[in-house]
Amino acid sequence: MSIQERALVGGYNTFGNQGEANADVKKKYPIINPYTTDLNELNMLRLKASAPRKKFIEAIKKGQIEAPNDLARYVFLGEKGPNLTKMAFPPSPPADSMDYKEVKELLTPVYNRFIKNIQDETTDMPYEPYLKNAHDTYCDQEVFEAEVRALQVNYLIACCTGDVADNRFFQTTMNHKKVLLLKDSKGYHAYNNTVGTAGPDVSNWYAAGDVQDLNLEGLKELPCGVKCGILLVLTHPENLAPEDAMEESLNNKLENVFNKKLQRELSAYGIGKNRATVMQQIAVDANWKMAVDTFGESYHFEKLHATTLKDSFVCNRLVYRSFDDDRDGSPGNSSMVLGRFTMQLLADGDLPEGPENLLSHMIPTFVLAYNTVFFPQPNGVFMSQIWPMDGPGKCMTTLANMSTRLPADQERVVSGFGGILDIFATEDFKILPQMQANFQANKHAETIFGRHEPCLTYRHKLFAKLAELGRIEMRKTAKTPKKVAIASRL
Ligand SMILES: [Fe+2]
Repeated sequence: MSIQERALVGGYNTFGNQGEANADVKKKYPIINPYTTDLNELNMLRLKASAPRKKFIEAIKKGQIEAPNDLARYVFLGEKGPNLTKMAFPPSPPADSMDYKEVKELLTPVYNRFIKNIQDETTDMPYEPYLKNAHDTYCDQEVFEAEVRALQVNYLIACCTGDVADNRFFQTTMNHKKVLLLKDSKGYHAYNNTVGTAGPDVSNWYAAGDVQDLNLEGLKELPCGVKCGILLVLTHPENLAPEDAMEESLNNKLENVFNKKLQRELSAYGIGKNRATVMQQIAVDANWKMAVDTFGESYHFEKLHATTLKDSFVCNRLVYRSFDDDRDGSPGNSSMVLGRFTMQLLADGDLPEGPENLLSHMIPTFVLAYNTVFFPQPNGVFMSQIWPMDGPGKCMTTLANMSTRLPADQERVVSGFGGILDIFATEDFKILPQMQANFQANKHAETIFGRHEPCLTYRHKLFAKLAELGRIEMRKTAKTPKKVAIASRL
């Protein structure tokens, strides 16, 4: 499928067969915040930018103009023409960066379940509906503070190992700290560079460059480690109880961020060979968990994403998987597999030999380490992180595309990424501030996670566990009032 055709049918995947960047252009990656971080401004900007494409699609649907080819005829009108199969299933060999034999073995049962869900006109529904008080969940200060504490003392995702390859450093902002990451002969390191003495401009949330230009003197090292090509950092070791700051305890935490089954799958994707190509922040006036919630089910595609994902994805069909903590079986990480429109053709039996590359048709969307949405694509990785800000009603989201190779044409990377931002800025994130305001104004407000939202049900049990972990940490490190202070009042 050409880039133009991919753009026409929308979706997350924006990389085509672009030429590779030369050494000078490579230094300009990743492209940081090519668009505004203000949600309202971004919404206006993207509505304007996407208007011609939407108008064109609308005209096809209304029969005012002919569909340009059999692919568009199927996607927008549901009609199957003679060239459809050839156009919908172009050669798509798996990327060299992944262990595709392993990926295929792990994802074939998922693929079969997805196809069966389509054929049976159903979706994964393992849980009963889950009712929660929305005000307590999204607006309560005590819950928020407990969650923040837990996020500070657990390993969270910083970047992929590809971001610090070839003697480059990568600095990002995690839990309000500037965290500088690099690799030397002894391994991977994370430093707290919030004061900015290492060199990079700390006024920006992100920085990158050559390790040789850094001055690491006096910087405090933060616990970090690599799992499956992903760099993980514990940002606030100073908030750990002494017994939890011991090496053995930290190792135990790191080993269990992903369970063994998930480690096998994430390793197979070859994530560590990717590095960020483009990153965009969007500030959202809503609770951080609500932004994570937007990646939780596929029935909303039909209405909320009526002009983006509805036509190019299979609506209200998903395969849900959970990856519980190996130690106690408690909620951990989870995955929602989404299907591109080609999954419907595969379920119809239009390609008897089956797909060449499963990842060209399914998107295994993970929520990892509490605040990171992550999914492998045929030629890269998409990542969205959601960071709590100063109160329960504010968060900062970052959206990033990563790739094993850096395209020569940066403008095309930015414009392609704009198509992804349409989904968030003009649809998903756009409605969150209104939801937050409703929940804030109504203490009795309840929210229900339905049968076809298993990822949300699972995740909100995980978030409840997170808050409880935070409360335990706060009790462990609570200072007893000093006797001197008490004495002075007597
Ligand atoms: Fe959505």
